[in-house]
Amino acid sequence: MELQNDLLLRAAKGEKTERTPVWLMRQAGRILPEYRAVRESVSGFIELAQTPELAAEVTIQPVDLLGVDAAIIFSDILVIPEAMGLPYEMIEKKGPWFPETVRTEADLKKLRVADGANDLSYVIKAIEITKKNLNGRVPLIGFAGAPWTIFAYMVEGSGSKTFSRAREILYTQPAFAHQLMQMITDSTINYLKAQIKAGADLVQVFDSWAGILGPKQYLEFSHRYISQICDAINEVPVTVFAKGAFFAREEMGKLNCETIGLDWNMGIEESYKLIGANKTLQGNLDPAALYGNPEEVRSATLEMMEQFKGKRHIANLGHGVYPDIKPEKVKVFIETVKGF
Ligand code: CP3
Repeated sequence: MELQNDLLLRAAKGEKTERTPVWLMRQAGRILPEYRAVRESVSGFIELAQTPELAAEVTIQPVDLLGVDAAIIFSDILVIPEAMGLPYEMIEKKGPWFPETVRTEADLKKLRVADGANDLSYVIKAIEITKKNLNGRVPLIGFAGAPWTIFAYMVEGSGSKTFSRAREILYTQPAFAHQLMQMITDSTINYLKAQIKAGADLVQVFDSWAGILGPKQYLEFSHRYISQICDAINEVPVTVFAKGAFFAREEMGKLNCETIGLDWNMGIEESYKLIGANKTLQGNLDPAALYGNPEEVRSATLEMMEQFKGKRHIANLGHGVYPDIKPEKVKVFIETVKGF
């Protein structure tokens, strides 16, 4: 199926585009009333994510309702621990929770390297249905969490401000940490390859908790494994978004990937200097800017676009859209990028 709108893919590869492509991290499932309607028809997030027809439906909603230049498959980064043998629950209004955690060599023995196509067949099926129903309108983004971020949830057992249990282990049991990190990395590579085989046109790696590591530990326990993933995936463009890892931008510039995501703390000019001209940069409007009135959203977006002008760029926010942002404001952001 030939894509009618391939702006995202051409921008990722550094090819000329008529205008800058735009999509939003967490565009599916956070802000749309149409999502909530589907969500209320099932028992919860996990059932929705595991029902391929419904996952495909909510994946396509932002394309129809917001006019974004890409769809991102509706799933979660935490499907990988589950596929490795560590199931999670999604607690209403609180977030992910793991009944069991992984903190010792004995815990490690209960886990396996996931085979993406079999262990995560429901995501693969959702991708196939989404591709068919998108019918080439826009590219489909596949994704996974970065090994460090997944490790953090598996060790901690839930979200955390500090992830101090997870960071403790990097100091007290580095060999164990590397073993688990390698199992996650191998699982993630299998999973991303299965997503690509099913039709994902680009894949993004989310390192949401990169910024809580110091520079040295980031390189040893996170960047190194992201680098393995980038080296393994050559079928489609790869985007790496390491939130808060401003200190590693020069290193990120050397990754075997096409695009680096910026959060809103990372200066644009400075990021281009550190990362270099061989990468496309994605981002990076402060998600809170969308709380402003439409005129304020418009001017904040234009200000961002001016700074990216003439450079390889995919427009996005600097992190996922916040759940209480009005879809109308998101539309102002999207329309402003499209009109620039
Ligand atoms: O981008 C998209 O819209 C596609 C779907 C997607 C979800 N999670 C669906 C989801 C994506 C790309 C993710 C990634 C994800 N999940 C990340 C990385 C991106 C980031 O935001 O930093 C992380 C850290 C998670 C872990 C996670 N999942 C948390 C902390 C939570 C609870 C808070 C929240 O975001 O709602 C989730 C739950 C989750 N993932 C929901 C959705 C739609 C909400 C579940 C519900 O409907 O009750």
